Order: sequence, then structure tokens, then C-alpha cells
Amino acid sequence: MAEQKKLLRALAGEKQHVPPIWMMRQAGRYLPEYRATRAQAGDFLSLCYNSELAAEVTLQPIRRYGFDAAILFADILLVPQALGADLWFVTGEGPRLSTITTDADFAKLGPVSDIHETLNPIYDTLRILKQELPSETALIGFAGAPWTVATYMIAGRGTPDQGPAHALKAENRPLFEALLTRITEATIDYLSKQIEAGAEVVKIFDSWAGSLKGEDFQKYALEPCRQITAALKERHPGIPVIGFPREAGDKYIGFAKATGVDCVAVDNSVTPEWVAEYVQVDGCVQGNLASRHMVTGGQDLIDDTRRIVNALRGGPHIFNLGHGITPDADPDNVQLMIDTVREA
Ligand code: CP3
Repeated sequence: MAEQKKLLRALAGEKQHVPPIWMMRQAGRYLPEYRATRAQAGDFLSLCYNSELAAEVTLQPIRRYGFDAAILFADILLVPQALGADLWFVTGEGPRLSTITTDADFAKLGPVSDIHETLNPIYDTLRILKQELPSETALIGFAGAPWTVATYMIAGRGTPDQGPAHALKAENRPLFEALLTRITEATIDYLSKQIEAGAEVVKIFDSWAGSLKGEDFQKYALEPCRQITAALKERHPGIPVIGFPREAGDKYIGFAKATGVDCVAVDNSVTPEWVAEYVQVDGCVQGNLASRHMVTGGQDLIDDTRRIVNALRGGPHIFNLGHGITPDADPDNVQLMIDTVREA
């Protein structure tokens, strides 16, 4: 039997002297080849729905750097669009969506069974990637967590403090919860189809989990992640799941046990030594180099990379950034990070 892929071994609980490595937003604007393909596609959403070109940009960082995993090129906001929300991107500003603040807005959303009509090109992208990826590279599918997706659907845009979503939760909790349930169900079907099309791992991005406090974190971050993970593992026994409740802080502790995810991705607001002591005790962790090192480089990058590898070497670890790489990053710094991890 061929040796299992490095990333899948880490997810199965194996500690490795050199951890597998990939990078959030590894296909993106810091790469000249990405900018060229994006220009060919037109705008960002056209690129997401063009399976050939989306597969191409997914492969670009694999060719350039030989990462241990490829992440599907798509966006967490395609699910709201597939549910019937309007979605567009304003250059230099970010996403815009039609807002959901009233029961009438919610009533306009379509049923979960209709999402695949919009999302079929995404599954085609995965089928192409399954054919074209090197045999040692794992293929990661993903979706946004219900809370994070809801924050964009409610506000119609990104918000610094998720104020509109917190307000709706306080003012019309039944509507807020109905929206989360709709997104949860859509996410289960979307990820399930991604797995059928070739995703070997799925990751749930809860970028705004950190703004949920106390019981809200249990109900709206942890519980939806548990439901999605349980449903996927029932339909696809053995499928590994990575959870990323970004900026969860203390609430990273016990997250894997409570949700059933195989790996907890951590941001760089926590130290790798703390992660080793309190999170890695329950299994695989992913992270957590600060993205700014991809802009600044140098000895600081090398020192922090080594510190993370050393701190997390005692258990299963996937090396990654603490959040996505930014457009102003220098591609040479990405190579320096990889060389440092692999020489460690
Ligand atoms: O990681 C990868 O390389 C895979 C593809 C991926 C994208 N977005 C492509 C993208 C993934 C996994 C995402 C996740 C995503 N999208 C999240 C969760 C992770 C996180 O970063 O917190 C969120 C909140 C979004 C929503 C989103 N998409 C925003 C807020 C923006 C605008 C900000 C920005 O960075 O431009 C996007 C656009 C986006 N998604 C780009 C890419 C490559 C840039 C689009 C472009 O080419 O102009």
C-alpha cells in the first residue's frame, strides 16, 4: 500500500519530525500567476465558478512550493449566494450581499435542495484537482461556519465587530436561529458533495467565532460545528474535519472533544507552547505563524517558525499561518518559511 499522505497522517494523530505544511489563502493576490489567471477570468466570482481556472489557481502554489495540501479555490460566501442572496465584490473593499434583517428577507431564501444548481462548478473543480494533483498532495475542501456566514448575510458585508449579527440575535432570536439552521443544513450538503467529488479533508472556517461570548459560543460556534462534523462523519465514515474557531482563546480548550473535529486550527493570538499544553493534548493542531512574517521576512520569520515547529513537535501538528496570507506578502518569504520548516 502506498504510504499515506503526510497531511492525512497528522490528522490521524501521527506526530512527525517535519510537520506537513500548507497556507491559508495560498492561492491569491501575492502570486503573479494568480493575478494573471484572475485577469483572464474577469472578476473573482467568475474565477470561483470557472472550474478549469479555479483548478489552475489551486495548483499554482503546489507547483511553486510543493505544499503538502491543496485547498479548493472558492469562497465561504458562495453558500449564501446558492441560497439566493445577491453577492458581489467591490474592488479594494470586499464582499457585499443583500441583507437579511427581517422575516420577509429570510422568506426569500431558497431551499437547501436548490444549492447544488449554483455550486455544481465547485464540485467539478474538485474532480479536476483529483486528477491533476501530485499523489502526495492532500485535497482540502471547505465552507464557512454558520455563525461567520450569517454575520455577512445579516450585515450585507464584513463588519469589524459583527454588530448587526449580534443585534439580530438579541432582537429576533427565532429568525437568527432559523438562519443559522438553514446555513448549517446547506453546509452539510455542500461539504458532503465536496467529499463525493474528491475532497479528502474538510475545513470549517469560523473566522468570527471570537466575538461569541459565554453561552453564545456554545450555541452558535461549537454546536453547529458539532452538528456538521457528526453529519459528515455519518455519511462519510473516517472523513477528517479541521475546525477553525478563530480567536476562540481559552475556548480552543476542549473544542475538538466537544465537536468531534480531528484537528483544531489556531490563530496567532495564542502561543505555540500554550497550544501544546492545552489543545494538542486532545489531538492534532494546525497553525500558527503570524501572517505579517510573509510581508517582513528575515530572522524573525525563521525564529518564530522554528519556535512553532519545536513547541508542537511532541504531538500531531500541521504547520500553517494563524490567518490568511495578505496580498502584500513577498513570495520569497513563503519559500523561506517552507525551507525553515523542512530543515528543522
Ligand atoms: O485559502 C485559500 O486559498 C482557498 C480559497 C479561499 C478564499 N476565501 C479565496 C478568496 C478561502 C478558504 C476563503 C475563505 C474566506 N472567505 C473566509 C474565511 C477565512 C478568513 O480569511 O477569515 C472569509 C471571511 C471569506 C470572505 C471573503 N472573501 C472576504 C472578506 C474577501 C475580501 C477580502 C480579501 O481578502 O480580498 C474575500 C475575497 C477572496 N476570497 C479572495 C480570495 C483569493 C480575494 C479575491 C481577489 O482575487 O480579489
